[in-house]
Amino acid sequence: MDLITVTAEHVRAQCAGESSGHDWWHIHRVWKSAQMLCAGEPGANRTVVELAALLHDIADAKFHDGDETIGARTAAAWLRDRGAPEDIVTRVAEIVANVSYKGAGIADKVTSLEQRVVQDADRLDAIGAIGIGRAFAYGGWDNRQMHDPDEPPVLHETIEAYRAAKGTTVNHFHEKLLLLGERMTTDTGRRIATERIAYMEDFLTRFHAEWNGDA
Ligand code: ADP
Ligand code: NI
Repeated sequence: MDLITVTAEHVRAQCAGESSGHDWWHIHRVWKSAQMLCAGEPGANRTVVELAALLHDIADAKFHDGDETIGARTAAAWLRDRGAPEDIVTRVAEIVANVSYKGAGIADKVTSLEQRVVQDADRLDAIGAIGIGRAFAYGGWDNRQMHDPDEPPVLHETIEAYRAAKGTTVNHFHEKLLLLGERMTTDTGRRIATERIAYMEDFLTRFHAEWNGDA
C-alpha cells in the first residue's frame, strides 16, 4: 500500500468514535478540500499536502495538557516509521505544528504554500453549514452553553486566554469562526469562505431573531 493510503487507514482507525469534531469525516473533508485547492496552486507538492491534511489533527494540544508540539511529533514519528523521506517528514511536521488557530490577536505563522493549502482546507470545514454543525457538536461535547445574551464575546489576545475561556458556542462564532474568512490565503479558499461566512451571518441573524421572538 502506498504511504497516503496507509496513512489514511491509520488515521481513520485512530479517530474511530471521536465526537469533538476531529472524527474521520472531518479529516476526509479536509483531505478532499486540500486536493481541490491544489488545482489553483500548481506549485504545491501534492504528497506533502495530502499527508499533512490526513495527519493535521492526529494529536491535539488541547487534549494533551496544551502541549503544542504533540501533533507534529506524532505525525513525524508515524511517517519516519513508514520510511518516508526526511524532507517529506520535516515539511509535513512543520504544517501540523502551525496549522491551528491560536486566537484573534495572534497572526498565523505561515511556513509554506502547502501549509496555506491545508490550513485553508481545515478552515473551510470550520465555517458554513458544516462549521455551524461542528461548533454546536463541540459545544455539547465540551459542556458549553449554546448562548447567553449576558455574556459578550471576547477577542483573546493570547493562546492561553483562548484555550482557557469556556465561552458559549454562539460567542465562538465571533471569537473565531467569522474571523477565519480574513485568514484565508488561497484564492479559491477565500472565495468559498466568503460565501460560507455570509451563510453563517444569516444563521446568526435568524438565531437572534428567534431568540428575541421576532421570527
Ligand atoms: P480544527 O479542527 O480546525 O483544528 P479545533 O480543534 O479548534 O479546529 O476545532 C474543532 C471543531 O470544534 C471546529 O469546528 C471548531 O469550530 C469547534 N470548536 C472548537 N472550539 C470551540 C468552541 N469553544 N466552541 C464551539 N466550537 C468549537
Ligand atoms: Ni482539523
